Amino acid sequence: MSVRAKEALDQLQPYKAAATIESVVRGYGYAREDIIKLEGNENRMGASPKIAGALARMSQEYSYYPDLNVTLLREKLAAMHGISGENLIFGNGSFELISLIANAYIGRGDEAISVTPSFNWYYNVTIMNEGIFCEVSTRDDLTIDVESVIDHVTDKTKVIFICNPNNPTGHLLPEDDLRYLVENTPDSVLLVIDEAYLDFHSSDYVDTVRLALSKSNVILLRTFSKSYGLASFRVGYGIAFGEIISNMSKVKCPPNISMPAQVAAVTALEDREYLQKVLDNNRIGLQLYYEAFEALGFDYIKSSTNFVFAHTGLDANLLKEEFLKRAIMIRSGSDYGYNEWIRISVGTYEDNLRVVSALHEIVQDIKTREI
Ligand SMILES: Cc1ncc(COP(=O)(O)O)c(C=O)c1O
Repeated sequence: MSVRAKEALDQLQPYKAAATIESVVRGYGYAREDIIKLEGNENRMGASPKIAGALARMSQEYSYYPDLNVTLLREKLAAMHGISGENLIFGNGSFELISLIANAYIGRGDEAISVTPSFNWYYNVTIMNEGIFCEVSTRDDLTIDVESVIDHVTDKTKVIFICNPNNPTGHLLPEDDLRYLVENTPDSVLLVIDEAYLDFHSSDYVDTVRLALSKSNVILLRTFSKSYGLASFRVGYGIAFGEIISNMSKVKCPPNISMPAQVAAVTALEDREYLQKVLDNNRIGLQLYYEAFEALGFDYIKSSTNFVFAHTGLDANLLKEEFLKRAIMIRSGSDYGYNEWIRISVGTYEDNLRVVSALHEIVQDIKTREI
């Protein structure tokens, strides 16, 4: 008889992440540099060019364990947000922070609420902790109905996971809705607001850091993986009241942020000019995609992120396959239960032109085949 894993794992499949470049190199035989990866909402502009020099300068320190307190990065972020360093916790990407939240707060029979569609990792961490995952449907236009979210709270609810702006839709919660959530989440429930993409939102928005720290049961999650282009380094951080930070710290592996990752994140934070270039490129890229979708008659969602979710009326898996034949990786909405939707990340300006031209060609091809 084999060793029996936790019963809850019977309900779980390994998390289905975006495909990797390596898998496409192996599967299709393309040269790595010819592949345009727009499947995982990464940053095709790359990280600040100053990072390479900063890493070279610290290479003599590779043999030491990293700074467990993440001191320099903590100080920089505390100053940037105007908060105390004690309100920060660091994770091996926000993936780890989400796990830490569940490990600290969700036990057998506890409920966690999120919306559908949204980031799927919230489900996995709830189930692996023997919790019950409660999915609240979005409205027909895929916006989040915050009243419905609060209506689903029961006396077993421990956590609400809200991704804002949401992945895969790209919608940003209207400010009043965000305030409604913060004000109406009972004190006994932890409200997690995952802001992985908030940097890309281009106009004014409520100061979510102030909003979160005005309550003792809210945590914001941010990451260096998207706007700062450091997905491979794995740095995310949470902003919350001290007690939440302290509970999460108890279940955290101590050396979870490597020293190269800390140095890279600090250098990225200091290079505001580069961040601005990324954000400008993103704005232009989104516009290009919108125009292409409009020309093709696709419905799409105006995005506050670095990706767009579009309803094509065609088989999304087929579209994904056709893009792959052109060495472009996009996400099929079928991973989120939307079989005619595609999610495409913004790339460099040249990438985006290639996407638009491939899209026109593919749609034309499919329509010709259908005739
Ligand atoms: C909404 C959301 N949260 C968290 C993550 C994980 O990010 P990280 O690279 O910081 O672990 C992602 C990654 O795509 C995401 O889309």
